[in-house]
Amino acid sequence: MKPKKPKETAAEMTELVLPNDTNTLGNLMGGRLMHWMDIVSAISAQMHCNRIVVTAAVDFVDFKHPIHLGEIVKLSARVTRAFNTSMEVYVKVIGKNLRTGEEKFCNQAYFTFVAVDQDGLPISVPPIEPETEEEKAQYEDALARRNMRLMLAGKIKPDLKILSDLLT
Ligand SMILES: CC(C)(COP(=O)(O)OP(=O)(O)OC[C@H]1O[C@@H](n2cnc3c(N)ncnc32)[C@H](O)[C@@H]1OP(=O)(O)O)[C@@H](O)C(=O)NCCC(=O)NCCS
Repeated sequence: MKPKKPKETAAEMTELVLPNDTNTLGNLMGGRLMHWMDIVSAISAQMHCNRIVVTAAVDFVDFKHPIHLGEIVKLSARVTRAFNTSMEVYVKVIGKNLRTGEEKFCNQAYFTFVAVDQDGLPISVPPIEPETEEEKAQYEDALARRNMRLMLAGKIKPDLKILSDLLT
């Protein structure tokens, strides 16, 4: 299969935080943000493989800054690496106050998607060919992240080397 470049998988989405998206403090709810992150990263994965994809895993997500009612949420995603049937997608979230123009980095996460056929069975995807230094680093590190999530999911045997690969 012909490799694709990360930029060919780039997906962007902009949302406005409305009252129904917020908690009682008037801040965007984490669950709503994760829903949007899931959508933008699924679009990115589908742009890579041109197949139906399902979310297999979401790595650690933390919420660094609240995003307030009336602010804009800019989400961007791209595939960092593809394996056999699975793809790792990096998603980044920026909050923007349109009145002041201030932007803040709020959140990032790695999602894993699996391409499936009409029967829901995993199907092969093309490889990724990173171009920039940042893309190359994310591509290299993706293997350690994959091993860690498969270990945590009980799909591969626990191994301390996996942990040390991730931390180095
Ligand atoms: C994801 C899913 C298709 C994997 O099916 P499976 O029978 O476990 O398939 P396999 O073990 O052959 O794995 C297929 C791929 O999924 C990956 N995978 C499976 N579980 C994973 C996990 N927990 N984390 C990361 N990747 C995972 C495997 O590494 C493999 O990738 P590879 O082919 O690139 O090596 C299946 O578990 C599924 O359909 N899950 C539900 C998906 C869903 O409904 N998502 C929405 C959740 S609300």
